[in-house]
Amino acid sequence: YRTLRVALLGAGAVGSQVAGLLLRHGDELADRAGARLELAGIAVRTIDAPRDVELPAELFTTDAEALIVGADIVIELMGGIEPARTSMLQALASGADVVTANKALLATHGPEIFDAADQVGASVYYEAAAAGAIPIIRPLRDSLAGDRVRRIMGIVNGTTNYILDRMDTEGAAFADVLSQAQALGFAEADPTADVEGYDAAQKAALLASLAFHTAVPLDAVHREGITGVDAAMIESARHAGYVIKLLAVCERIEDAAAGQQADAISVRVYPALVPRSHPLASVHGANNAVFVEAEAAGSLMFYGAGAGGVQTASAVLGDVVSAARRHIAGGVGVGESTRANLPILPIGRVTTRY
Ligand code: HSE
Repeated sequence: YRTLRVALLGAGAVGSQVAGLLLRHGDELADRAGARLELAGIAVRTIDAPRDVELPAELFTTDAEALIVGADIVIELMGGIEPARTSMLQALASGADVVTANKALLATHGPEIFDAADQVGASVYYEAAAAGAIPIIRPLRDSLAGDRVRRIMGIVNGTTNYILDRMDTEGAAFADVLSQAQALGFAEADPTADVEGYDAAQKAALLASLAFHTAVPLDAVHREGITGVDAAMIESARHAGYVIKLLAVCERIEDAAAGQQADAISVRVYPALVPRSHPLASVHGANNAVFVEAEAAGSLMFYGAGAGGVQTASAVLGDVVSAARRHIAGGVGVGESTRANLPILPIGRVTTRY
């Protein structure tokens, strides 16, 4: 096999698992990808920080810039905007494909990143950026590209689902469950991103952009978190036959009389009352689920681990294999289509029924 150089940026909960799997399953991945994936190095901020996986010390460096030079595939798992953005642009400028789980960066600088990739014919893969291990980016971008998506309703944040679920099923207190979610590695470095709905809003922006072929900026997403949800609200919801879930809802608002050209979209994240009989009500723990309604396909539900290091690493490695196959085949980029350019409605204009 030809050897492809893989640079890994970041060795946190997901990064360390990705490195471990790349090293452990090297032969198998080579057969699948048609190329040997050589882990050229791992760029980190602190060389001797504690890691979830034991990795060879000689792989670590603090010089991301030097590591990116000569890489065929750059895996960006640092998270946050900078220095992730600069490293990603450097990688793309050098012609490398990029694999990332960085929803914050893509939701705020997506057009800049995708343009940079287009300019050099490189690709950005981000299956791990939404809903952890669940394949949802490819289904929306590829499998459903011939259909018209009407609505997506998703539980796309594992931490908040874990918290709400434990409060609902055990009467646990918010603060106690949040620290458990942090200890289990689900929560973001700053859990405000989870509990205030920022993480879910970033994922909603990514999913809506793919579903409706329209660039949805993060500030067009209505966002409410779960910090205002207390035991009494959960209890009264239960009595009425509902469960409270933090939902990301992305909807095409159709104006039947005016035809498709008059469609608009609405994207919102908020704690919603979900009937206990709805499939989303039985999503427990840190699992995620994304319910997609499309014109021809009907209702589809994607379900599984929405957070967690090794689970999310699965999605990252799938992207690495795709990137490697593309390198070997000398294929074209996996273009993003946001040409539909539908207007995005303010929240007040939408009535919600589930
Ligand atoms: N903090 C995120 C969550 C991790 O809880 O869903 C996965 O993106």
